[in-house]
Amino acid sequence: MDRLRRLWMSLLPFGFLLFFSSAFIGVPGALAWSKEGHVMTCQIAQALLEPEASEAVYQLLPDHVKGNLSALCTWPDQIRHWYKYRWTSPLHFIDTPDNACSFQYSRDCHDPQGVEDMCVAGAVKNFTSQLMHYKEGTSDRRYNMTEALLFLSHFMGDIHQPMHVGFTTDEGGNTIELRWFRHKSNLHHVWDREIILTGLADYYDKDVSFLLQDIERNYTDGIWSDDVTSWKHCNDISQCVNK
Ligand SMILES: *[C@@H]1O[C@H](CO)[C@@H](O)[C@H](O)[C@H]1NC(C)=O
Ligand SMILES: *[C@@H]1O[C@H](CO)[C@@H](O)[C@H](O)[C@H]1NC(C)=O
Ligand SMILES: *[C@@H]1O[C@H](CO)[C@@H](O)[C@H](O)[C@H]1NC(C)=O
Ligand SMILES: *[C@@H]1O[C@H](CO)[C@@H](O)[C@H](O)[C@H]1NC(C)=O
Repeated sequence: MDRLRRLWMSLLPFGFLLFFSSAFIGVPGALAWSKEGHVMTCQIAQALLEPEASEAVYQLLPDHVKGNLSALCTWPDQIRHWYKYRWTSPLHFIDTPDNACSFQYSRDCHDPQGVEDMCVAGAVKNFTSQLMHYKEGTSDRRYNMTEALLFLSHFMGDIHQPMHVGFTTDEGGNTIELRWFRHKSNLHHVWDREIILTGLADYYDKDVSFLLQDIERNYTDGIWSDDVTSWKHCNDISQCVNK
């Protein structure tokens, strides 16, 4: 995680729009936020799928979205307060001790009751593993692979939003109030959404597809192209989520 966080920071001046994020921790009224970030991450991800994965995604998505993964990438935010899915609420973030500069899986990846693996890194591991078993034909039939796909797609977005790996006391920046230009906001929300919306308005004529083209150019033959191979490479998911 530390590496992810540093990477994020190094991308700040230009890359701040690549990854985005999710709703307010524990504030039901804020659920509609941050749709743009998740939609963009999923559009980028889906375009990069190899044919076999692409076909599997198509099969797992319900017919009504016509193969469009990003149409459902905010689903985990919509259901996290439903009774049946309340257990997923702690999976959207990681809280570290205040002022800790790095994340430690064994120390930090748990829910408020102390149940292990209940954090966004644990969720990425869990749903990756479910989907790997699905690929190998050894799925556990208790698990719903459509849900696993939607959760993984969403949590890969959340884990890259710096404020989703934040300090416990300020709830990942949610309690840090500030002004964003002329209106009131908070630090978490700035990262979830304000930066994206302001960037879209100032540089991309408010058109998400222009921004996506710019990001795509930057990882195909622009400033990030040398890094892409290392992003793609992961032999052991437990190791990868810790970096
Ligand atoms: C793409 O890279 C250029 C610099 O080469 C930078 O100005 C631009 O902001 C980058 N776009 C995004 C979306 O990061
Ligand atoms: C897929 O869904 C997203 C989110 O609803 C939407 O913005 C996008 O235009 C859709 N893409 C296509 C090809 O329909
Ligand atoms: C993994 O996912 C299953 C459902 O798909 C759930 O029952 C279990 O609690 C999850 N564990 C974690 C750590 O997310
Ligand atoms: C899997 O989950 C989706 C979304 O919650 C649901 O619509 C679908 O009916 C579930 N499939 C099965 C086989 O339970």
